[in-house]
Formats: sequence, C-alpha cells, structure tokens
Amino acid sequence: MERLQKVIAQAGVTSRRKAEVLIQEGKVKVNGQVVRELGVKVTPNKDEIEVNGVPIDREEPVYFLLYKPTGVLSSVSDDRGRKVVTDFLEVEQRVFPVGRLDYDTSGLLLLTNDGEFANQLMHPTFKIDKEYIAKVKGIPERTALKKLEKGIELEDGKTAPARIKFISGNRKKDTAIIQITIHEGRNRQVRRMFEAIGHPVQKLKRERYGSLDLRGLNPGDVRELKPIEVKHIRELAVTQKSKS
Ligand code: URA
Repeated sequence: MERLQKVIAQAGVTSRRKAEVLIQEGKVKVNGQVVRELGVKVTPNKDEIEVNGVPIDREEPVYFLLYKPTGVLSSVSDDRGRKVVTDFLEVEQRVFPVGRLDYDTSGLLLLTNDGEFANQLMHPTFKIDKEYIAKVKGIPERTALKKLEKGIELEDGKTAPARIKFISGNRKKDTAIIQITIHEGRNRQVRRMFEAIGHPVQKLKRERYGSLDLRGLNPGDVRELKPIEVKHIRELAVTQKSKS
C-alpha cells in the first residue's frame, strides 16, 4: 500500500505536492469515490485512481541504466527516423529518459516510467553530481580551467562551481582530456563551458551520475537498476537538496 499522492506523482501526472492539492480540491477519485484526505493509502495495481476524471497509468515502476552511444537521440521517438534511446530496451513499460545527453554525447543515461523519480532527479535543487570526460581542442591553461572551477558566465547565467581534473594533454594533436563534474543540467552545458574558455569539445562522455557509473558496460548496453541503487540515488537527491 502506498500513499495516494505518491502513486499519482509516480504515474507522472504531477508532483507529490501538487497531487496533495488536487486531492484536497476533490479532483481525485479512488474506486469511483472522491477522496479529500491526504492520509489515504492505495494499492497501485488494484485500486482505480482518477485525477480530473482521467484514470492514471498503473504501470509498475522500472529503472534502467543505458550506456548511450553517440549518434542517438535522448528521446522516445523521432519523426526523422533517427535512433532513439528507447530503441535499446525491450520492455512493455513506456519508459523515457531522465534528462538528456546530446546526440553526439555518449555515456550514462537513466530511463524510467516513474515520473516522480525523474522529476526529483532533474529538479535544480537536487544537486546530483554528473561526471564527464571531455576531449577538447587545444591544451587549456590552468587559469582557464580555474574559471570553470569558479563558475563561468554563459548566456543563461553563471554556472555553479565545477570540479576539474586535468587528465592528459597531447601537444602533437593539440588536444587535452579533462574530467569535469557539475551538478547542473543546462542544455549543452559542458560544451558551452569549454567553448567559453576557447577550447571547444570534440568528444564528450558522461561517466558517472551520482552513485552510478558505467562499470562493466559497453556502448549500447543497458541494465536494470537494483532496488538498492534506486534507493541510493533517491537518498542522494534528498541529501543534496537539504545541503543547499
Ligand atoms: N553537457 C553537454 O554539453 N552535453 C551533454 O550531453 C551533457 C552535458
């Protein structure tokens, strides 16, 4: 048995807090009866739940980790016929990616049908570390990398401080490999950050997402998360929020 507001949020209808408001407003029915109290518990696969007259989806929540290859859209379909991340899974549930990686970025991407989980992880207050390995053009000076560490002005505002580790430089090819860890998830953020210091990204891979990494996986591989991993990442999200 689960709390009604949690089941509504899990179905991706809205956040848990907004579900509570809908319940109090009398917009939620359980087995045909309007329920206005917040303490009510329901069985997701048995009780019929309607929000604003629409039955909610009662799929079992599932959680997957995909090693996204490059050349794949972080989407569930594409009208131009390009490969999408859900092509790598054969599951009945209608899963979607938690956030996105660029078409040309490879690495760790979570997929789920649990809307509440996805909202939690993507919400800006949940500062989950995302670690990337970037191959950049040129060999950045220490002072340039310091700018990224402190936060750099982009067109949508200053970035939060990043962690940077210089891995290697190749004078002959004029490239460098740099590890960068950020907790924001703005559009093309890592690429724009390196662009801003004059070292465009040539290759980008996300190696870690919170407590999860790509160990044992090859591009295109997918595995289901263990319940303990789901629990950890949820806990991490909550701890990171309360630290802010
Ligand atoms: N930052 C980027 O620039 N691209 C990604 O795909 C992820 C983070």
